[in-house]
Amino acid sequence: MVACFKITIADTGQQFDCGPDDTVSRAALRAGLGMPYECNVGACGSCKIELLDGEIVSNWPEAPALTDRDRARRRVLGCQSRPASDCTIKVRLGNHYVSRIRPQRVAAVLTSVHDVTHDIREFRFQPESPLAFLPGQYALINCAGFNGPRAYSMSNTARDDGSLHFQIKRVHNGVGTTILFDRLGPGDTVTLDGPYGLAYLRTESPRDIVCIAGGSGLAPMLSIARGAAADPATAARKLHFFYGGRCATDICGEELLSALPGFGARLFFHPVVSMPELDSNVSWSGRVGFVHQAVQEVMGQSLADHEIYFAGPPAMTQAVQQLLSQNGVPREQVHYDAFY
Ligand code: FES
Repeated sequence: MVACFKITIADTGQQFDCGPDDTVSRAALRAGLGMPYECNVGACGSCKIELLDGEIVSNWPEAPALTDRDRARRRVLGCQSRPASDCTIKVRLGNHYVSRIRPQRVAAVLTSVHDVTHDIREFRFQPESPLAFLPGQYALINCAGFNGPRAYSMSNTARDDGSLHFQIKRVHNGVGTTILFDRLGPGDTVTLDGPYGLAYLRTESPRDIVCIAGGSGLAPMLSIARGAAADPATAARKLHFFYGGRCATDICGEELLSALPGFGARLFFHPVVSMPELDSNVSWSGRVGFVHQAVQEVMGQSLADHEIYFAGPPAMTQAVQQLLSQNGVPREQVHYDAFY
């Protein structure tokens, strides 16, 4: 068994154990503490902590979320920091970061793959021990050849057979997706670490639901829709599902959503493409524009009355955030994890 280091939070004296192969942020979350985080992959900066004493090793010293000023002040990214000794850190914990389900690391076997679109593929993994999660959450996948874990959202729900389904978009020349798409096959084993993410389905909310997705943002939004349909607390809610692509061959999701109860009656699918001319082989007679424009057109003034979930590429999520703010949607009704 690997010996753990003791991490102490300076102002409160709270302590937790962290193995040399774990990160300070994730070990804190496993211990039930509300350590701030969002992406878990060094991109957002939410997990910055100040190292007051001790030594850490960074998984990614050049992570874009860390500035030279941060480095000069001994600030580190908790999600990239492995301890090399006992450490004392300064950080402000937040109750809303406390995981409803404590994350854990488990081995998982790839059981099947199939293509969802020309560049999105579904990977199904069976973990060796149960890995619970909430609709909309994500896990970190790590496997041989990766230079660090990658964050991907589950598209199914934990009500299924215990397997975790990921719909992953191929990134041109991306190390992670090249390995997943071209080298990994059924029977191969990966490590899953999760669940993470705060953009999970709020079953306690009385509001109808809007899901907005682009690219592999499809996965967490499908999980939200599936979770809402399956939970008695939300099954009767209306749900508007917007999916944006560049052209007709990017559009997916309708077949999967149409399997859910209430499709067409209280569950509505709104596909939209921004550049239909990109694919001259497939004609498009549906809505044209950006997905945030479609949301505005369909939802109008009622947007602020909804619980809103979204996921997708940065340009899309920035436009959606702007739209929600223009429409006066209260922040507590907006659910989004920045890790794409
Ligand atoms: Fe660490 Fe985003 S940079 S959680």
